[in-house]
Amino acid sequence: MAGDLRHRRAPSEDGNEGASSSAAADNNGKPGPLSGGGGGGEGAEEPRREKREALGWLEWGRGWMSVVGEFLFQRIAASHLANPLELPPLDDGVSIIVTGATSGIGLEMARQLAQAGAHVVMAVRRPKVAQELIQKWQNESSETGRPLNAEVMELDLLSLDSVLNFANAWNARMAPLHVLINNAGIFAIGEPQRFSKDGHEQHMQVNHLAPALLAMLLIPSLLRGSPSRIVNVNSIMHTVGFVDAEDMNLRKRKYKSWLGYSNSKLAQVKFSSMLHKRIPAEAGINVVCASPGIVDTNVARDLPKIVVAAYHLIPYFIFDAQEGSRSTLFAATDPQVPEYCEMLKSEDWPVCACISYDCNPMNASEEAYNLETSQLVWEKTLEMIGLPSDALEKLIAGETVQCRYGQHQAE
Ligand SMILES: NC(=O)c1ccc[n+]([C@@H]2O[C@H](COP(=O)([O-])OP(=O)(O)OC[C@H]3O[C@@H](n4cnc5c(N)ncnc54)[C@H](OP(=O)(O)O)[C@@H]3O)[C@@H](O)[C@H]2O)c1
Repeated sequence: MAGDLRHRRAPSEDGNEGASSSAAADNNGKPGPLSGGGGGGEGAEEPRREKREALGWLEWGRGWMSVVGEFLFQRIAASHLANPLELPPLDDGVSIIVTGATSGIGLEMARQLAQAGAHVVMAVRRPKVAQELIQKWQNESSETGRPLNAEVMELDLLSLDSVLNFANAWNARMAPLHVLINNAGIFAIGEPQRFSKDGHEQHMQVNHLAPALLAMLLIPSLLRGSPSRIVNVNSIMHTVGFVDAEDMNLRKRKYKSWLGYSNSKLAQVKFSSMLHKRIPAEAGINVVCASPGIVDTNVARDLPKIVVAAYHLIPYFIFDAQEGSRSTLFAATDPQVPEYCEMLKSEDWPVCACISYDCNPMNASEEAYNLETSQLVWEKTLEMIGLPSDALEKLIAGETVQCRYGQHQAE
């Protein structure tokens, strides 16, 4: 059986309900009000904390302990889950966009969702590969009867123009979108720092900025599909990340690939939390971050060959892609998830819903609860993706928004 989210928030480390973060602990484990300028205008202004430059040693150590703990214990902790996860009934009236559906977790999700009856859009940078996959799945399912309702649309997250073109093309259909799964991601382990043609550090662009722009531009379609969901495939590695909103592209700090990756994943949790806070409940768009566990996919393709070989030799600890797809599929389809998101919203919980690899609620890192920096990350992200600071409010109100990239108008 998958997780039960009813009446639950993620437990704190001492076993009580509520987050383990200092931000939440300040409120005796109760969700705290938003702080920071413009964060929805709720609550009294708090004095600005001294600017932090990095995670404290203790937080950093706890973060790495979480990563190691996940590696060692994920199989035991998720042993109650069926594999594959049993999906609720879906029909081809349910439209789901899956980015990065040509490999690993995304491929598994697209296949299972299409075979469960949903209309699946594979948003990929290699359309030919995706077409071949659909053909293969069609052949497999022709034995069972129903043809699959899957299609391919081109999307390269290293280009914000490509994101605009994709969103334009989808929005032009005037069709409802029920779920956006921001799955595509990179971890260029050991590689030197690289920047996209838009000028952004590549992890930050592919893992956070482009998915954020995609989610924002698809708001009109998500409103049409309401109740709808934005599900971001995140990572336990966000717990060792630290985002300086004034240096999102890591130009001032010494670059390490794991830092680029973990920072991009933390930026995604922070942006998602602000999005969750700012979308009015009546809009019915729920925002979730899901952690897949440590999964044997192509994500480690840039590791030295010997390390990749070792990676494949430890299958007991590492999930296969089908196991790794369960938490995101749960977040994308389980009927409890919107209720859970609504509960967090009504309690003014500072972080969006986070679902662990075992389909249970999880705490984001302590740093994710720092609302002051989350607000800064929200503002900086909008600036970096070329949207005005009031873009969300305008899109929710059905107004046109100008984006710096392309000559886009989202309505
Ligand atoms: N594997 C793990 O242990 C693990 C753990 C935590 C989180 N995650 C997250 O899970 C998600 C899926 O990763 P995975 O493990 O399934 O890795 P994967 O097998 O490498 O799949 C990544 C997918 O993203 C696509 N992609 C990469 N760059 C892109 C771009 N510029 N534009 C469009 N698509 C792009 C890839 O396309 P191509 O097929 O064309 O390369 C591929 O389909 C990622 O967000 C990753 O950070 C993975």
